[in-house]
Amino acid sequence: YRNLRVALLGGGTVGANVVDLLLTHGEELANRAGAGLELVGVAVRDIDAERTPAIPKHLLTTDAEALIVNADIVVELMGGLEPARTYVLQAINSGADVITANKALLATHGPELFEAAEQVGAQLYYEAAVGGAIPIIRPLRESLAGDRVTRILGIVNGTTNYILDAMDATGDTFENALAEATRLGYAEADPTADVGGYDAAQKAAILASLAFHTTVPLDAVYREGITEITDSQVKAARKAGYVIKILAICERIEIDGTGEYGVSARVHPALIPLAHPLAAVHGANNAVFIEAEAAGSLMFYGAGAGGPETASAVLGDLVSAARRHVIGGPGVAESTHANLPILPMASVLTRY
Ligand code: NAP
Ligand code: HSE
Repeated sequence: YRNLRVALLGGGTVGANVVDLLLTHGEELANRAGAGLELVGVAVRDIDAERTPAIPKHLLTTDAEALIVNADIVVELMGGLEPARTYVLQAINSGADVITANKALLATHGPELFEAAEQVGAQLYYEAAVGGAIPIIRPLRESLAGDRVTRILGIVNGTTNYILDAMDATGDTFENALAEATRLGYAEADPTADVGGYDAAQKAAILASLAFHTTVPLDAVYREGITEITDSQVKAARKAGYVIKILAICERIEIDGTGEYGVSARVHPALIPLAHPLAAVHGANNAVFIEAEAAGSLMFYGAGAGGPETASAVLGDLVSAARRHVIGGPGVAESTHANLPILPMASVLTRY
């Protein structure tokens, strides 16, 4: 079978694990994909930095653009908005399919990137952008495309769940728990994204856009982080029979008495009764509940962050992208036709 050239942008927590799995299981993945997956290089900032797992030196380069030009599939795992956006557009315009785990990029520049991909018939895959290892993008984009989703409720940030869980279970301090989450590779390069609720808001925008077939801009997502949560609040919550979790809540709701519908998305800490399944989500795990008219309630649970865990989702996308190259066809189209209005948050919050 033919060989597909795969360029990797980023060799950090996720990227190094993608390389490791790809080199270890290359033959098995090639059999599944129906094409050889040749890793042509890994773009990084510092070629001499220590990496875990180690990346063979001959694959490392600081010249991302040279890698992109000749690739069939580009995997963006650098994070941040620039130069990630420029590289992804370059990849799309050179005819490559793109895989990314970059929720900041998708929540901020998603419409521009999806439109660029549609124009040239390229495909953008992003299973790893929400929920780490948990399959959540495909279920929303494909499996539930025939249903009407009404609500998504979930823990979508591993770092903040790890911190709140450690404060609750072991009485650890916020600062210690954040340092440990960073050491374990859960936190963003700038952990303000996690503790400030920005990362969860980006994921909420992605989930709400997919679920409600519309474009939910990041600045329409109400956001509160966990930086104001104190040890004594965590203790008092438990004493009263609750745990504090930061939730993402996306809803399709009727605009007061009009029979018309709109969507809302919000991220904030909430008191969860100890008997609720979300109270049992520990460490860096995530859980997402989806309510749909015909399907009823669905729950997705698993590792929400971490190098190998997130690499698993990236490799799933890689096999899908390779299959598309082998079989041909347009792939899965983005669906944002619904144009539902985004509801003003003040009108949403007064309902609860
Ligand atoms: P990371 O450990 O900070 O790795 C980023 C990598 O990109 C590093 O190898 C870095 O090079 C490289 N890089 C950054 N800017 C670059 C530039 N301008 N040119 C070339 N290379 C550049 O990040 P990560 O944790 O792997 O996360 C990667 C992406 O996955 C992010 O979008 C993140 O939000 C997302 N994600 C992460 C997780 C997780 O659990 N970590 C889970 C889901 C999604 P150097 O190594 O030389 O500095
Ligand atoms: N920093 C993110 C988190 C990584 O803690 O959930 C996974 O998206």
